Amino acid sequence: MSDLDTWPFWAPSQEASVEAALDLAGVGDGTRVCDLGCGDGQVLLAAARRGAAVSGIEADPDLVDEARAHLEDAGIDADIRLGDLFDPDLVLDADVFFAYLAPATLQRLLPTLQHHRSSHLVTVDFGVPGLVPTRRCDPARLYRMPGRSRPVGAPGWPTAGTLVATDPDCQSLSCLDLVHVGGAAGAHLSDEFAGLASIVSGADHLDGPAHLAVDLRWEPMDEGDVVAGAVHVDGMPDHALVVVITEEDHGMWELSPGAIRGIHDALVQSAPPSTLAELLDATAT
Ligand SMILES: C[S@@+](CC[C@H](N)C(=O)[O-])C[C@H]1O[C@@H](n2cnc3c(N)ncnc32)[C@H](O)[C@@H]1O
Repeated sequence: MSDLDTWPFWAPSQEASVEAALDLAGVGDGTRVCDLGCGDGQVLLAAARRGAAVSGIEADPDLVDEARAHLEDAGIDADIRLGDLFDPDLVLDADVFFAYLAPATLQRLLPTLQHHRSSHLVTVDFGVPGLVPTRRCDPARLYRMPGRSRPVGAPGWPTAGTLVATDPDCQSLSCLDLVHVGGAAGAHLSDEFAGLASIVSGADHLDGPAHLAVDLRWEPMDEGDVVAGAVHVDGMPDHALVVVITEEDHGMWELSPGAIRGIHDALVQSAPPSTLAELLDATAT
């Protein structure tokens, strides 16, 4: 499944991250700040408390209502629009764009933002694939548009595969990246993941070799579930993908070809692995 329409996910950024980002971008009295995907409006509240003029765009109508109510309750005049960041008719105007968005979404937004020469983009947690930040203060990164490109290495995935351990109870995000060879760059998951995950790449097409973000969104699943399959990206070799659902030790582990073979061998045994520890043991055999 590859479906941009079902991709937006909601998670508020941490208060400390927001303040770090606003500091990094020098937000103060009179700065025009636009939150791209403004959620419940908490970033706009923080920026407005510094005297900024704030606006936001949000695809989820309930969150738009919440954001408007939060700002109204605080007596702040804000322009909060219900809309899609990828709407070609959308007009954006700000000194500082704030984004707490997944890497593939950031990569897809970049061509639009690059037109805003001299504006700044400040991101939290995730960086813009293929761009070098002008300044960085973790977890915030600041980019002056149109942005400076990161050198591109040899095309390929950094590893043969990835093992993901994620939460049973809520949607979660795993972000992969690769250097794409250029040309068609759509991404798809193998059938094993149907209904369990969706995937978005940072571009449908690339003019030449370039960094490409590939984001996976996991749906809630049962503790102990293990699913093995592959990520297909146009023009590239398949990337093996194994997910284990667990309440502990969330993260991503790189898999060598030998580790992938070990996991596949273990999964056809009479007592297949159902925990992260058992899967990691299988990578070592
Ligand atoms: C991770 S949340 C961040 C919310 C807020 N900016 C914050 O930092 O607390 C991302 C938000 O972007 C919104 N979003 C994602 N894709 C969008 C799109 N294409 N158009 C508009 N909003 C989008 C989601 O609905 C979600 O509310």
